[in-house]
Amino acid sequence: MGQYQHIVVLTGAGISADSGLATFRAADGLWEDHRIEEVATPEAFMKNPALVHRFYKLRRQAAAQAQPNRAHICLADVATQSDDFTLISQNVDDLHQRAGSEDVLSIHGQLNQYQCVQCHVVDQIGHDELNEHSVCPHCQSHGSLRPDIVWFGEMPLYLDDIMTRLMRCDLFVAIGTSGTVYPAAGFVEIAKRNKAHTVMLNLDGTDNALFDEVRTGRASQVVPAYFYDKLGFKPPDL
Ligand code: APR
Repeated sequence: MGQYQHIVVLTGAGISADSGLATFRAADGLWEDHRIEEVATPEAFMKNPALVHRFYKLRRQAAAQAQPNRAHICLADVATQSDDFTLISQNVDDLHQRAGSEDVLSIHGQLNQYQCVQCHVVDQIGHDELNEHSVCPHCQSHGSLRPDIVWFGEMPLYLDDIMTRLMRCDLFVAIGTSGTVYPAAGFVEIAKRNKAHTVMLNLDGTDNALFDEVRTGRASQVVPAYFYDKLGFKPPDL
C-alpha cells in the first residue's frame, strides 16, 4: 500500500515510554540506582547473579503491568496492510507482541525468556521467577539460567536477516531511540546507502543528518500521525 513497498521500522525504549516504562538514558544512564554496566554485562552476571536477577525481575514486573500504547498498536496494524514490513525492536519488553505484532526481531532478547548457559536452550519464564538457584528444566543444571537478554559485549540477534531487509527497504523509520547503541544505531546508514527514505519519530530531534525527515513528539501521537495521516494506512476503526 502507498508509496513504499518495503518498510523497516526500528523501535527503542521511547516507544514504551508512553506505556510507563523507563527509558535507558533518561536519568543519566541510571536504572533503579544501578549503572547499566553493573547489571547488563556477562561480567556483572558472573560477579553478582543475585543482583542481576533481581534487577531483571523488577523490569519483568514493570513490563507485565504496562499496556501497549497507540504506537505499538499502530505498528501491528500497519504490518497487516503491508506486503513487506519488518519490525526490529531494541526493547526487551513484550509490548509489540501484545499489541499483535508477529515476527518481531527483538535484537536485544526478551525479558520473559531465559537461556541456559549449560544446554543453551531458550524458553519462556513461567510462574517461577528466575534466581541464582534456578534449575534448568531441560538439562537439570543448577544455577545455570540467565535472562535471555543481549548484554553489552554480546552479539545482537538476527543481524544477517536484518542486513538483507535493510538492503531492500525503501522506507526506514526509527522510533523512540537515542541512536547511541550499535549496531542498531548504524541501521539508518545502511538503509540510506541503499536509497531508502529515512525517518525519525522521537520525543526530541537529533542532528543526525542521515534522517531525511524528523518528526518530534510522543510516540503514541507521532507514530499514528505518520503512518495513518502521512502515509495513508487505514486506521483500524475506518
Ligand atoms: N515518545 C518518543 N520518544 C521518546 C519518548 C516518547 N514518549 N520518551 C523518550 N523518548 C526518546 C528519548 O528522547 C530518547 O531519544 O526515546 C529515546 C530513548 O533512548 P534510550 O533511553 O537511549 O533507549 P534506546 O535507544 O532504546 O537504547 C538502546 O541501549 O542500554 C541499551 O540495550 C539497551 O536497547 C537498549 C539500547
